[in-house]
Amino acid sequence: MHIAAHEWARPIPTQIASTGPMASLYWRLSGHQPDDAARAEALAFVRRKLDEVADSPTDLPAAPEELGAWMDGNAQRVAAQYAEYLEGRKAGGPRRFFGNRAHALYFLRVVAPTKLVDGSWLYGLVAHWRNSRFSDLVRTYVEELGEGAPDKNHVLLYRKLLASSGLDPVDDLDDAFYEQGLIQLALGWHGEALLPEVIGFNLGYEQLPLHLLITAYELNELGLDPYYFTLHVTVDNTDTGHAKRACQAVLDTLPKLGDSSGFWERVRNGSKLADAGLGTTQVIREFDIAREVVRILSRKSVAGHGAHSDYCKVAGRSVNDWLAEPSRVPGFLEALQQAGWIHLGRPVDESRFWGLLQGEKAEMFGVFSSYELQVIHDWIRGAASADGQPYADLGVPQRASFRAAQRLATLRGRALPTPDVQTPLLDPDLDALEDQLRVLDADAQMQLLVQAMSPVQHWTPAGLKATRLFWERSRA
Ligand SMILES: [Fe+2]
Repeated sequence: MHIAAHEWARPIPTQIASTGPMASLYWRLSGHQPDDAARAEALAFVRRKLDEVADSPTDLPAAPEELGAWMDGNAQRVAAQYAEYLEGRKAGGPRRFFGNRAHALYFLRVVAPTKLVDGSWLYGLVAHWRNSRFSDLVRTYVEELGEGAPDKNHVLLYRKLLASSGLDPVDDLDDAFYEQGLIQLALGWHGEALLPEVIGFNLGYEQLPLHLLITAYELNELGLDPYYFTLHVTVDNTDTGHAKRACQAVLDTLPKLGDSSGFWERVRNGSKLADAGLGTTQVIREFDIAREVVRILSRKSVAGHGAHSDYCKVAGRSVNDWLAEPSRVPGFLEALQQAGWIHLGRPVDESRFWGLLQGEKAEMFGVFSSYELQVIHDWIRGAASADGQPYADLGVPQRASFRAAQRLATLRGRALPTPDVQTPLLDPDLDALEDQLRVLDADAQMQLLVQAMSPVQHWTPAGLKATRLFWERSRA
């Protein structure tokens, strides 16, 4: 079988993915400052979602005064469930979420559209920072942005996690994976029209969930950086964290002259959107590694057909022919197994197909991303992949937790230096921001800073700088 690697490696148009209606609106709200049409569509979208959940139950208390007890009850329940989980693991029980390393990477990939707009639902309130009733919410938003520190900005941390796990760019995702992120963006661009719903969403979303604790524990166990998740365990705490401030924000903003019960009802309905779209446990449960292998190969077939010589035949059909239609991929994989190129449930070295993808003489070296290789690797190994082994030796002891590997790297002098926040950065927007700040009056300066703190760019050098300045000045 002869495969010309450079042919397979032809770049695939990024537009192949993310062309569904939700993904497209998501990008119009987060790729650049949205125009009026995008904003109007966002409002209509989120109103439709609010109508959809209007009749579904909520566990929020009937009266806002009971929020403190509700939050404490939730925190205690989660703590007890997590203690039970840890006990089970100590007794030798298997991981609850991630069957293997590919499963965990899949999770990080499909939740990316949500994590990359983390905090965005609160953006609309930042412009109203002078109203002290919103101070808890503005502060929560600024903390999501890491107060402008690049190593604390949640979105930037997730971007780095994707890059270090070989998961960027995130493309070819089902439209459904954009729903939760789209809701967050839509709320963020309509903080004024949807004030009670934003406050309710924040209340529902900022309570510490059990899945966050288990995710962090199991990512670390699999050697993947859990920091983004452990950070949220500490920021969502019920003592001083976002969970408590979310409750306080409701009490602070409830109308004293206006219709407080109507407002509370809208808060309650908004909170239900925190569970809209595909939830964490659902996407973890529905992972099907064979389906993911088919998706990966179908996508490659777009570029790969025509790249193989015609004398290279599997089950009487040329590889070019197999790859001519993405729909033939499941049959092709079946044929590769029949022909002895793939031995499922055996070490990968026994599969000649694996030897084409990975190793010194691999003819398709570089065709698949590290994520894709991990999926194929774990699929071939089957049950044995539960040991969490990376597809290639990454220079750390097998099965070391992320934290243990990090300690070891530090000891060996291999750890990356901590980024120096003071180092001047080259960024066109940074210059533009500084130029504009120089000529504007104080009020207009604050407006500009707020604009630069939007979900579109708060994680860029200019956005981070704007966040630092905003935070300093708004508290002066
Ligand atoms: Fe966050």
